[in-house]
Amino acid sequence: MDINVMNGMLQPKSVAVVGASATKGKIGHTVMLNLQESKYKGGVYPINPKSEEILGLKCYKSVLDIEEPIDAAIITVPAKFVSGIVDECGQKGIKGLLVITSGFSEVGDEALEQEIVEKAHNYGMRVLGPNIVGVCSNSDNFNGSFAPFLPFDGTASLVSQSGALLIGIDAQTYTRGIGFDKLISIGNMSDVNFADMIEWLDQDKNTSCISLYVEGLKDGKRVIENGRKATKPIIALKSGVSAHGAAAAASHTGSLAGTSKIYKSAFDQAGIIQASDLDNLFDRTLVLSLQPPMKGDNVLIITNGGGVGVLATDSAEKFGVPLKFAPENLQEDLKKYMPSFGSAKNPVDLTGMAGADWYHDTVKIGFEHDWVDGLVILYCETAMTDPLAIAKSIKKAIDETGIKDKPIIVSYVGGERSDKAMRWLVENGIPAYGGPDVALNAMGALKEYAHVRELSKEVPQTYSDTDREKALDVISKARKEGRDALTEIESKQVFSAYGLDVTHAKIATSEEEAISFAEEIGFPIVMKIVSPDILHKSDAGGVRVDVNSVEDVKKFYNEILANAKAYKADAEILGVVIQEMAPWGTEVILGSVNDPTFGPTVMFGLGGIFVEVLKDVTFRVAPFSKLQAAQMMEEIQAAPILSGVRGEAPRDKEKLGDTICRYANMVSDLKDEISESDANPVLVYEKGNGLKVADARIILTKK
Ligand code: ACO
Repeated sequence: MDINVMNGMLQPKSVAVVGASATKGKIGHTVMLNLQESKYKGGVYPINPKSEEILGLKCYKSVLDIEEPIDAAIITVPAKFVSGIVDECGQKGIKGLLVITSGFSEVGDEALEQEIVEKAHNYGMRVLGPNIVGVCSNSDNFNGSFAPFLPFDGTASLVSQSGALLIGIDAQTYTRGIGFDKLISIGNMSDVNFADMIEWLDQDKNTSCISLYVEGLKDGKRVIENGRKATKPIIALKSGVSAHGAAAAASHTGSLAGTSKIYKSAFDQAGIIQASDLDNLFDRTLVLSLQPPMKGDNVLIITNGGGVGVLATDSAEKFGVPLKFAPENLQEDLKKYMPSFGSAKNPVDLTGMAGADWYHDTVKIGFEHDWVDGLVILYCETAMTDPLAIAKSIKKAIDETGIKDKPIIVSYVGGERSDKAMRWLVENGIPAYGGPDVALNAMGALKEYAHVRELSKEVPQTYSDTDREKALDVISKARKEGRDALTEIESKQVFSAYGLDVTHAKIATSEEEAISFAEEIGFPIVMKIVSPDILHKSDAGGVRVDVNSVEDVKKFYNEILANAKAYKADAEILGVVIQEMAPWGTEVILGSVNDPTFGPTVMFGLGGIFVEVLKDVTFRVAPFSKLQAAQMMEEIQAAPILSGVRGEAPRDKEKLGDTICRYANMVSDLKDEISESDANPVLVYEKGNGLKVADARIILTKK
């Protein structure tokens, strides 16, 4: 990213408004007005061939007529004129184009959009949009948009894929009292996308938290990379989470991969936390822009009401920060500042009599105690107490501790006086919310942020014992034969080249071969039909397990071939697999899809009913660290089964974690070759005894 060019586009020292208009109500007029009303200090140059002057400023026929240098052009002319204007802007040496104009890829005209981006790049320019509202920046006094005004001032910055939503949010920043420095409309993302914006806002000294409204990402891999590198909290509200492409998917994994699960994993891997809805985006943005992450597990709640205390306790559990009793010494200290009928356990209930002094003293003691990693203060408005005085006492207590690396959040339940006090708290850097559940959700966000940040710093696991050439040989042989699905044996050869423990197997093409392979592998064995035309082998009567003798091998060899013919007369039969019969183990499934946004993505879950009925699976974008693999094993609902339930010994999770990482490594390394794959089932044995991939499937990318 050329920072100089990006700065020129997003923090211009001078702008041309191409399509500026003297006619009230036109976008080209509103943008001019907004630049003036926001008290923009840079040069403003209206461009319109028909006007001499607009809003008191000299008007030019073309940007080429301006003598002074121009950083950015805001384009508000109809789509058919934009391409010509891009040339003129390029010749003028403009750095970036804010293309407000609609009528490009969003209505199917990809070619015109592509044309303006290519032209812009040839001149070294970047393009924001097209189809945007523009850019608002409080710290630059820059309203280069047709949004009504600059947002309520603050330190978060929002990037929105929806222009209309950005305008709505702009107005809501005032009613909610939640401040933003920048609002950036990203539109069609023909050039500048979320990955660029994360990188740019992370270095922007006026932004403390990056807030995103996302419909779909372009360049998902780079969003993950830039998210991981970012030093500031990033929060995303993702809309449009319905499943996509599932029907077309040929493999098991493909049909289980839904957009929302993959996005969630990708955001986690990027260190980006998610918001559940628009309210939540605001609430979480507020806390992330004002408070540090919550690094430990212990939340202390101080309240003047039992009811809100119980509500907060329930919410704490729901949002991943469950309460524990405060340590004895902390309880003893707290008891000095409350009546005997109060409670110091956690929530600390100061009772309805609590005034500013009690709040001050308990907040100070609580915040200073080493055990406390995050503090939530609840207050219900009473007749005897002054909400603002309590707010001030809370702030005073926090300031007196001098602690800056743990978070504090406040919730007031009350009327106008409480609203006023909450505004005061926010203005003074303490997030305050109207409900205890919202406050605990906010604390949950700070905990989640600390957690995903830590995880995202993990380096993906690499392996030196893999054999890429061997895998590519197997794949190229299948391609030469015109196949885009590998057989089970071939798939296992590829898996094995990446260090996965597969069951030993060979293809027999005659009865004699079947007997000799069975004797070589050792009884009992499994026999399976091999045919690119029969994907569901059991349905075709093409599988025999627990085959124990030479006689049975002979018998089943012929029976399997006959069944396959009966099932699909024209099926191409490549032989019968003679396979080591792996002993019973806990069945898990591993799979991969080549996600259009994020690339190779690995799925993990327990097999059988868990995957078929409950869809109890989890995803990660490949490759990833062993810690991520461990998280995958923990986050499925059936996780306790792997740890050993009802007297069963725990499974070999260490080997399984390594296998998941190796699988991720394989699909990432062979991303141009493997479209989808499954290892299903993988039989996992008791701790120390490893696992076996019993069946394997690879579908190749179309070439
Ligand atoms: N150079 C300079 N000025 C020019 C040129 C040129 N080559 N060609 C035309 N102009 C002038 C016009 O003469 C006009 O000025 P005037 O009022 O003095 O006559 C001005 O540019 C604008 O041109 P119009 O033809 O009047 O176009 P209009 O203002 O009606 O619409 C617009 C232009 C706003 C860009 C429109 O095409 C459009 O795309 N609207 C949608 C924009 C939008 O909503 N974007 C965000 C989407 S997100 C959301 O939904 C909120």
